[in-house]
Formats: sequence, structure tokens, C-alpha cells
Amino acid sequence: ASAARADDLPKLAEKPTYKVGFAQTESNNPWRLAQTQSMKDEAAKRGWQLVYTDANSSAAKQVADVDSMIAQHVDVIFLSPREEKPLIPAVMKAKKAGIPLFLIDRSVDANLAKPGRDYVSFIGSDFVEEGRRAGEWLIKATNGNAKIIELQGTSGSSPANDRKKGFMEAIAKTPGMQIVASQDGDFTRDKGRQVMETLLQAHPEATAVFAHNDEMVLGAITALEAAGRHPGKDITLVSIDGEKDGLQAIVDGKLGATVECNPRFGPGAFQAAADYAGGKKIPPIVVNKDHFYDKSNASESLAGSY
Ligand code: AHR
Repeated sequence: ASAARADDLPKLAEKPTYKVGFAQTESNNPWRLAQTQSMKDEAAKRGWQLVYTDANSSAAKQVADVDSMIAQHVDVIFLSPREEKPLIPAVMKAKKAGIPLFLIDRSVDANLAKPGRDYVSFIGSDFVEEGRRAGEWLIKATNGNAKIIELQGTSGSSPANDRKKGFMEAIAKTPGMQIVASQDGDFTRDKGRQVMETLLQAHPEATAVFAHNDEMVLGAITALEAAGRHPGKDITLVSIDGEKDGLQAIVDGKLGATVECNPRFGPGAFQAAADYAGGKKIPPIVVNKDHFYDKSNASESLAGSY
């Protein structure tokens, strides 16, 4: 990498091999583990050195992790920012240090840092669209009448912000779709269970759950069953990801549907870096295509899931 001009992104020289950093946000769910594995597999396949860090759910540690990658003079940084605002300094420091940075999976606040200007590109799912698809499915499944408990992902993260936005847009014109309670479950199964337990006590009238990921919906299913409810029968659930346990919950008739969010970033991310070194124009935003799982295809999709 060479130093960045104020009006330009850092360049990447063509080399037979690279030392690349991947700053992961946490490793507490199957989605994160699948993402990390995909990055490690691709590095091994290409014979590139991977400097891997795990921020253990701390945005401050993730900023420090990027600092350490800069100090180790990696050629490229792949960052999955835990939250939208606190990771802005990391993006800006990489630019200043002349290291091209790609955001993968999650994004940062677009008012404070822009792809194609402050970092090379964002590669990931359209989270707004994921929330919208979940909302549209729920409207159909409930004939437009539902008292919804929303389990939100990590507060301040782009998937939580955008999935909520898309879901709200989808249900906005259907007056029978009502969110009765909404709380942060931090994308984890246990937090999802705890939050569901509390919200269910306050809102026993709930007839639907929208969880921002499968792990939280699985926690919600445990809480519902403990409270004597029958997920999939007296309450309709929808979530996002498409992990193995989520698909199994669909097969078991407890989860209605899940919108895919593909965690396998390795091949696309590494190819984008190679293309960038080769002088190809990289689009500022590269959107992954996501599938949709319900009872029509969950069983056959189990084999390839994580
Ligand atoms: O950023 C993607 C989200 O983060 C996935 O939906 C979730 O499972 C993960 O923790």
C-alpha cells in the first residue's frame, strides 16, 4: 500500500501474495463463525497471510484491533464494524495510513464516511430489504393483523437500524400490523430468550415476533414454550439469517420464515481486493443476493447450512 492523497483512496500494488487483516466483531453465534471460516478458507486457498482479530463484542476493542493491523503494515483491511458510529475513527485511520479498507457485512454511518471516498467499498446484504421481506411475509402470514414483538439486533449496528427501517416501511400501510414492544436482544440467543420472557409478561396479547436474527428467534421460541405458548400455532415468528437451527425450526413448524443473510464473504471480499490491486474499478456498494426460506424449501436447504 502507498500513502493516500487527501482526495484519493489508498492504492494497492499487485503482488503474488498479500498480508490482509480481518477485524471480526464477535464470535458468539453461528453466523459469525461461518463468516470467519469463510475468510480463513479463502486466505488459505490463495496463500495470503491473514491477520485475524475478534473484538469480543466491543467497538472500542475493534478500533484497537484495526490500530494493531495498521501497526503490522497489513496490505488490506476487511472490517465488519460492530456499530455504525464508533468504528468511523478506524476507517479514517486506515485511510490516513494508506491502507485500503473494505467494509464487509456491516456498514458505518454514511454521513461520516463514504465508500469510494474514505474506504474502497461496502460488500454485504441489503439489510433494509431483508427487513422489508420479513415484514411482507408477516403481513401475508397473519392476513394483515398482528400484535408484534420486535427483538432488535445490537443497538447502533447497521443491520439493526436498517432491518427495523425496512420492516416498518413494509407494515406502514397495513393498520392491523402493530408493534406492541421492541427491545435490543444483541443478536444473541440467550439475550433473545431473556428479552422475550420479559416482553411476553408485559404483552401476553402478542400474536407475532419479528427477530432481527435467527439466534434471537430461537431464544424467543424457548421463552414462548416455557410460558405455555405454541410457536408456529398461536404465535407467528419471522427472522433473518438462514442458519441451520433456524431452518430446523422452520422444518419443526415453529419458525414461519427466515430471510437469508449470507455470511460467506471470503471469495467475494478477497476477489474484490485482487481486482482493486489489478486496477479494476470497484463499485462503492456491492450487494449480496439473499434467498428466502420457508416451509417450501427449509428441509432441502439444511444440508448446505451452517
Ligand atoms: O451483520 C449481520 C448480522 O450479525 C447477522 O444477522 C447476525 O446473526 C450477526 O450477528
